[in-house]
Formats: sequence, C-alpha cells, structure tokens
Amino acid sequence: MQDTFGRPITYLRVSVTDRCDFRCFYCMPEAMTFLPRSELLSLEELDEVCSTFVERGVTKVRLTGGEPLLRRGIMDFIKGFSRHLDSGALDELTLTTNASQLSKHAHDLKALGVERINVSLDTLDADKFKEITRTGRLDQVIEGLDAASSAGLKVKINTVALKDYNEGELSQLVKWCGERGFDLTLIETMPLGDIGGDRTESYLPLDDVRKTLDQDWTLTPSPYNTGGPSRYVDVKETGQRIGFITPLSEHFCDTCNRMRLTCTGTLYMCLGQDSSVNLRDALRSDASKGALNAAIDKALTLKPKGHEFEISANGGPPSLKRHMNVTGG
Ligand code: GTP
Ligand code: 5AD
Ligand code: SF4
Repeated sequence: MQDTFGRPITYLRVSVTDRCDFRCFYCMPEAMTFLPRSELLSLEELDEVCSTFVERGVTKVRLTGGEPLLRRGIMDFIKGFSRHLDSGALDELTLTTNASQLSKHAHDLKALGVERINVSLDTLDADKFKEITRTGRLDQVIEGLDAASSAGLKVKINTVALKDYNEGELSQLVKWCGERGFDLTLIETMPLGDIGGDRTESYLPLDDVRKTLDQDWTLTPSPYNTGGPSRYVDVKETGQRIGFITPLSEHFCDTCNRMRLTCTGTLYMCLGQDSSVNLRDALRSDASKGALNAAIDKALTLKPKGHEFEISANGGPPSLKRHMNVTGG
C-alpha cells in the first residue's frame, strides 16, 4: 500500500479498546466517557480487518488503547493473530501498555511471539504517579515491568515530558532505564481532546530537555530506527538509547508509514487529522471483503501530508476533539 504522496504504508496501530484504568491528566479528563460496548468490533471482526491489512502489506501491528490488556479476550486475539508471525507475513506484533495488567500477561505475550513492548511511565515518584494518572499505582506498574523483564520482553519506556511534573526527574529516569536495560522515549504532549484543563501549562519542548540531558550524559545520534517516529541517541554511560518524539517542535510526517484503526472499526489516516473511513460498515456489508478493500483503497487517497496540531500560546481549545485513547497514540 502507498498513499498519494508515495509513502509506503506498512504499520497499523490498533486501539483495541478506548477504556483505560488510568486517567492521565494530559490524555483525558477525570470523568471520561467511554464508548458503549455495543459499538465495538468483535474480536473476530478485528482479526478479519487486521488480517486484511497484513495481506495488503502491513508488516508491523501495534495494539494500543486505552489500555489494550483490558479488552476482554485480548490474549485469545493475540494467540490467533500471531499466526501471521509464524507465517512470516508479519515482522512484528507489539503493544503499547500502561503495564497495569502486565504481570498477569507478560509470559504469555512472550510465548506468543511478542518480542518488545512500550510501557507508558512518566515518573518514578509514587505520589506524582498518582497525581498524573489519577487512578494508577506505581507499584503495580513496576510489578508489570519486573514480569516483562523476567519473561524476556524487551521494554521501551514512553515518558511524556511534563513541565512542573517530571522535568526535574528525566535525568534520573535515564539512569533508571539504563540500570534496567530499557530504552526510553520522551514525548511532547499533543493537543488531542479536551482534558478539562490547559495543556499549555505542562507543554515542555524536547529541545530544552535535550540541553539539560546533555549536561548529565554523553549523547550521540543513533541510526536506530523502529519505523516509529522516535529519533534516537545513544547514551554512552548506560549503553541504552533515548528517543525523542517531537510532533510539535519538529514533526516527522514526511516519513509517516502508519494508519490507525479504532475499536469501532474507524480507520484514521493521521493522528492529527480527522480524515477517516468506516471499515466496520464495509466489513459488515460484504462478506467477500470487496467493500472492505475498497474502503481501504479510499482511505489511502485520504492520507494527508501531515498533521496540523499546535499548542496555542493562549491555551485555546485542543486542535482535535478526539482523545489519544481513541486512536491509541
Ligand atoms: P516504536 O515502534 O517503539 O517506535 O513505537 P512508537 O513510538 O511508534 O509507538 P508508541 O505507541 O510507543 O508511541 C509513542 C508516542 O508516539 C505516542 O505518544 C504516540 O502518540 C506518538 N506517535 C506515534 N506515531 C505517531 C505519529 O504518526 N504522529 C505523531 N504525531 N505521534 C505519533
Ligand atoms: N500527548 C502526548 N502523548 C500522549 N499520550 C497519551 N496522551 C498523550 C498526549 N495528549 C501517550 C501515552 C502513551 C502513548 C501511547 O501516548 O503516555 O505512552
Ligand atoms: Fe490510559 Fe495511556 Fe491515556 Fe494514561 S495515557 S489514561 S495510560 S490511555
């Protein structure tokens, strides 16, 4: 698959549920409304749609949410879908998770062919963790990470850089990740969905963070590339990497290779745009998958050149109404 700008599309991100047991303040309001379960694609339908993408050339699938491990039956889905790893059609099946359920599932994930996972963790301070996630517990996440390590899963930590929350702690996180053998990705907060507050207050441009980290660590640009948006540096002292995801201060849309499927079967062509097609209706209207494939063809023509979000200086409304948990980042 290629879009109209000639970009090969090989990466599908699938938000298998919009539900989450955490309420990270930069992601959603405390009283978040989730979708009624009746609107979800069944796991069989999800398999059918994702498998169609694999047939059409997708080689990397990432399950996201909300919290993907909260979706009922998700391990059975992974078990079935991992046949595409066995056949060699799929290079990578992976997850982005908050790790709250990871201690239960880490070993099975590894056994099913998941090699590495990304875990969202913004602070190592239990009180701050509670403040940021509102409903999460740090010890639960650490337990999940311990299980991942003992299962042999490679872990990358995703940390949203937040002014006044974790900005003073990022160097320590580099050290902690180094000790545990984790890579670390730092992310700029993106203006997606109303969070019942002002994101401008916590926005921290990563070039500032980089300058601070440069004082504590020897960082050199790395050619490492996961097919994701991170630009990596090697940390000489720890032997691990730090990735920087800078959608606001320096976007990376020219090399975008991905699409996003929601749990209701909507396919979004860009994280920062509304263009989408409804694959659920296409799937249900035609058992031969003709309508599904036509809808995917249409979607490819809709992929925009890049996102348009920005953090407005006066704390105006978010660029997009949709929250991050709808598309899973
Ligand atoms: P790797 O495969 O490890 O590179 O993962 P990834 O960075 O693609 O995925 P992950 O789910 O860990 O996402 C980390 C952050 O990157 C999240 O905050 C995502 O929202 C953000 N992100 C991923 N893809 C895009 C993109 O195409 N555009 C923008 N603006 N942000 C993205
Ligand atoms: N801006 C940037 N990152 C976000 N995430 C969730 N909401 C936002 C936002 N508004 C992050 C999570 C997770 C990843 C999928 O996206 O922390 O690591
Ligand atoms: Fe849940 Fe991730 Fe959003 Fe936090 S950022 S509320 S863990 S979906």
